[in-house]
Amino acid sequence: MNDTIKVEPIRGVSGELEVPGDKSISHRAAILAGLSDGQCRIENFLPSEDCVNTLRAMGQLGVSYEVTRGTHEKPLDLLIQGCGGVLSAPEHDLDCGNSGTGMRLLAGVLAAQNFDSVLIGDESLSGRPMGRIMTPLEMMGAKIQTRGVKPGCAPLHISGGTLESITYEMPMASAQVKSAVLLAGLFSPSITKVIQPAINRDHSERLLNYFGVQVTTEGNVISMKGRQILKARDLYIPGDISSAAFWIVAAASRPGSRLLIKNVGLNPTRTAILDVLRRMGAQIHEEVVDEDGGEPRGQIEVIGGELQGTEILKHEVPNLIDEVPILAVAGALAKGQTTIRNASELRVKETDRIETTIGNLRAMGGEVEEFEDGMVITGGHPLSGAAVRSFGDHRIAMAFAIAGLFARQGETTIEGTSCIATSYPTFEQHLQLFTKS
Ligand code: S3P
Repeated sequence: MNDTIKVEPIRGVSGELEVPGDKSISHRAAILAGLSDGQCRIENFLPSEDCVNTLRAMGQLGVSYEVTRGTHEKPLDLLIQGCGGVLSAPEHDLDCGNSGTGMRLLAGVLAAQNFDSVLIGDESLSGRPMGRIMTPLEMMGAKIQTRGVKPGCAPLHISGGTLESITYEMPMASAQVKSAVLLAGLFSPSITKVIQPAINRDHSERLLNYFGVQVTTEGNVISMKGRQILKARDLYIPGDISSAAFWIVAAASRPGSRLLIKNVGLNPTRTAILDVLRRMGAQIHEEVVDEDGGEPRGQIEVIGGELQGTEILKHEVPNLIDEVPILAVAGALAKGQTTIRNASELRVKETDRIETTIGNLRAMGGEVEEFEDGMVITGGHPLSGAAVRSFGDHRIAMAFAIAGLFARQGETTIEGTSCIATSYPTFEQHLQLFTKS
């Protein structure tokens, strides 16, 4: 992957596309298949650095796997031989690279093992808060030390041991925290409950159920009895709607565009971006074709329109949190104001995405007001091509490649685009589908 992408303005985005497998589901598939009681065939695993790191970590913990198809740019088909819940001590530190999901979910599993382990990550991950998983895991009896340069951050030194079941009321709507507690709870003797302040992505619950673990959700409370055996299952991973989001916004924001995205995940805890874009004036039709593995999958047709600004509602935020940078670009291309508040979680993503999104929008001539928990974008000011940076954040890099496609004039250069490989290794090839005349 190149470290710079240059884009020239285009008229619109039409055609048909499939995006690579879902990142959240790929992490969970590697972990749950690895813990299961037999062989699992996993198809369409995302071949991104983040997910491959989680798979490798499971390998270091004694899970054997084989890549039966694919490379770093092609969907991976895997055969994972589950360890029946019995992992072995790793010889080296486990490197989660850039991935908060990988680190936080693995920490849940490792806290409950009868061996010690160390989780490390890159510079960005080593600056992200781990206290949010340490608090509930320590309530369960886990022993975790952070030995990072920044207090409360990785490396995580985990002294594994026996855990108790707890009821945990999460202070933030975080699927990573919920999943870390549930994964730790799998190794605890009685019922683990997580109370979430708002509905957020439920892939762990769905996938645990698919692997034969009884998990129930009633309103905002998730309950699971510990010490259940995960049954080996084959799984097909749907395309990632967070990757599709870049093309959905590109097509939505230009009248005359018509785009069909096939084979994409349509889990309702991930599709809030479609509701927002409909409100803004795009025509979007989604159709569920399949529900294999407990995850709805299907197609999205987008017909572009003259977008109008909107307010993103508080309850929508957790269900579009990774789409905020590209929705901010949609806001800049729309007429009127787009308000994104209640989103202070953006400050602790791969970068402070409030700051990096606003900095780049302003560099392109956008009008944006910053708030501690979000931003208000006043659309209708044409964007101009500019030199912008990713700051090492994959979603910032991709969002501003799309912004550059719709600048009124001039080339946009995005510097630092190799990070895109953490979630969407074929992004640049897909970009060329629309830019090569
Ligand atoms: C993820 C949860 C979200 C999301 C991240 C992936 C997951 O983070 O932003 O990209 O797979 O569980 P939080 O749990 O911090 O909200």
